[in-house]
Amino acid sequence: MLIRIISFILLLTHTAFAEEFKPLPNKKIDWNFEGIMGYFNRESIQRGYKVYKEVCAACHSMKRVSFRNLVDIGFSEDEVKQIAASYQVTDGPNDLGEMFERNGTPSDYFVPPFNNKEAAASANNGVVPPDLSLIIKARHDGANYVYSLLTGYKNGEQSEDGLYSNPYFPAGKLAMAAPLSDGLVQYDNDKQSTVENMAYDVVNFLQWASEPELESRHKLGLKVIAYFIVLTVLFILTNNKLWRNLYQKKH
Ligand code: HEC
Repeated sequence: MLIRIISFILLLTHTAFAEEFKPLPNKKIDWNFEGIMGYFNRESIQRGYKVYKEVCAACHSMKRVSFRNLVDIGFSEDEVKQIAASYQVTDGPNDLGEMFERNGTPSDYFVPPFNNKEAAASANNGVVPPDLSLIIKARHDGANYVYSLLTGYKNGEQSEDGLYSNPYFPAGKLAMAAPLSDGLVQYDNDKQSTVENMAYDVVNFLQWASEPELESRHKLGLKVIAYFIVLTVLFILTNNKLWRNLYQKKH
């Protein structure tokens, strides 16, 4: 009897969980920005900006990043002006209460690909592509996760519901088709634009966007540590001297 009850419970739990998808653990990448000596790999971040601009920006906004911020990753003021001016920005309202278009300036934020959520959803199988400004922080183990997601598509697998299989996405399939393919973006130097390299670069770019202060925080951390080491040495020296004096007085 007991055995029958136990096997019944096992059967129930088995059917309840059989359908549940278990995502693969993230690939682990050695990122330059990790650890106490972590720094931004600006060449990679610049290439990553190119990948974002030419591929991801067709669907994903990055509303929290302004053109001016690109100076941080190595663009000159003039280059930033040119980049900004190549966009049309909606501004206003003017004196007549109307919105108008003008060329972008460095203080403008990245221009979103869709005017509203409805337009974004209807162009993407009913799912709004999330803003990528903070995506690395918004996901657990964000950098490794986004890298795994971008490099983890199994070719050509689209299910009947219009979703695409990806074993790293928590639900196993998502509304984004594999956005990268080898050679998709033209790199300026002789670095190969393989899916892996483009994913690596765009994640470096997104990491910088999510946490631009990371590098200066690491530098400050090192300064604080150096300061404490000096302080400790001074303390030991004065302490020794103090005790030596007291000791000599006694004897
Ligand atoms: C053709 C449109 C399109 C392009 C191009 C595109 N995406 Fe997406 N992306 C989407 C949609 C739609 C979703 C929402 C998927 C879902 O939740 O089912 C999404 C979701 C995501 C997510 C969130 C996954 C999660 O955990 O919720 C990330 C990260 C992402 N995209 C990164 C990128 C990057 C990086 C690029 C450029 C290399 C890119 N996308 C290009 C449409 C696109």
